[in-house]
Amino acid sequence: MQTIPLRFDNAHVFVAGGSSGINLGIAHGFAAAGANVSILARKAERIDAAVAELKAHGGGVRGFSADVRNYEAVAGALREAHGAFGDIAVLISGAAGNFVAPALGMSSNGFKAVMDIDLLGTFHVMRAAHAHLLKPGASFINITAPQSQRAMMLQAHVCAAKAGIDMLTKSLAMEWAADGIRVNAISPGPIEGTEGMSRLAPTPKAAEASKRSVPLGRWGRKEEIAWAAMFLSSPFAAYISGAILPVDGGGSAGRYDPDLLGQFGQMGITSQV
Ligand code: NAP
Ligand code: COA
Repeated sequence: MQTIPLRFDNAHVFVAGGSSGINLGIAHGFAAAGANVSILARKAERIDAAVAELKAHGGGVRGFSADVRNYEAVAGALREAHGAFGDIAVLISGAAGNFVAPALGMSSNGFKAVMDIDLLGTFHVMRAAHAHLLKPGASFINITAPQSQRAMMLQAHVCAAKAGIDMLTKSLAMEWAADGIRVNAISPGPIEGTEGMSRLAPTPKAAEASKRSVPLGRWGRKEEIAWAAMFLSSPFAAYISGAILPVDGGGSAGRYDPDLLGQFGQMGITSQV
């Protein structure tokens, strides 16, 4: 992974949902920059594999098995992590679940599963982490998604949950400002090699259509989300709080049509003056 010239030597970085995908990519970014990293997820074998990967960077690494739907389990893990590495300078909250289904194809429990993991789980992580955050100075980052602001069919549960995360982010940015804690969110666009995209674009045709919907014409890479998280947690973002930062190749900028310039070009409407 290519790193950016920011150091987090001996800083404690806690990543909820850090055993795979985008969140593990973020953990790698901070570990490569000298941080001690704690990760939390459910499945022990994936946590163990991620811990082994992260240890290769040379810093301290601890893994915790807990379900973000269980407040006491989350609080216990955060207490233990704090005991191991001290005050948490950066907290990434990105545990989430997703499946593709129409609202009428979801049971109450199906809708609730995603609300409980994504929204209630984020609240649990925020609520339980506050006691252990570096004050002043901590950077808290929630991982949201484009569905929070742009409705998507077959994603009613995720749209609702992630919209809630955006508002939690903004509310606590205000409540925790007096403690010197900045609270922001990153909204990744489609990121290659992730569980999320294997669910949302399960065929080559769907993947191609998704890429064409991004102005930069490609899916993002995990390290591109890590770089944004590191920037948001650096002194260069000292005045940024309450922001929802899209890292999406321009996908959320507006209604993008890759063929529009060509179509109008054929009518003589071009970029040449
Ligand atoms: P992923 O690889 O499935 O990562 C999800 C992580 O959360 C795993 O570590 C998973 O481990 C953990 N997790 C899930 N349910 C949990 C629970 N109940 N309690 C504790 N941990 C739990 O997913 P991803 O695709 O990289 O997505 C990561 C984040 O980015 C999510 O917040 C997602 O909404 C967001 N996002 C992804 C994309 C994308 O392109 N993939 C785009 C926009 C936003 P266990 O299953 O072992 O618990
Ligand atoms: N369509 C409709 N309903 C579905 C579904 C689907 N594809 N997949 C699961 N559900 C429903 C189940 O039927 C169940 O409802 P029921 O009890 O009425 O039958 C409910 O969701 C909970 O299912 P369960 O498997 O018990 O949930 P879980 O809590 O173990 O897992 C999920 C949560 C479903 C979100 C699971 O996909 C998950 O853990 N995902 C994590 C990885 C992931 O999604 N990564 C991408 C992140 S963006």
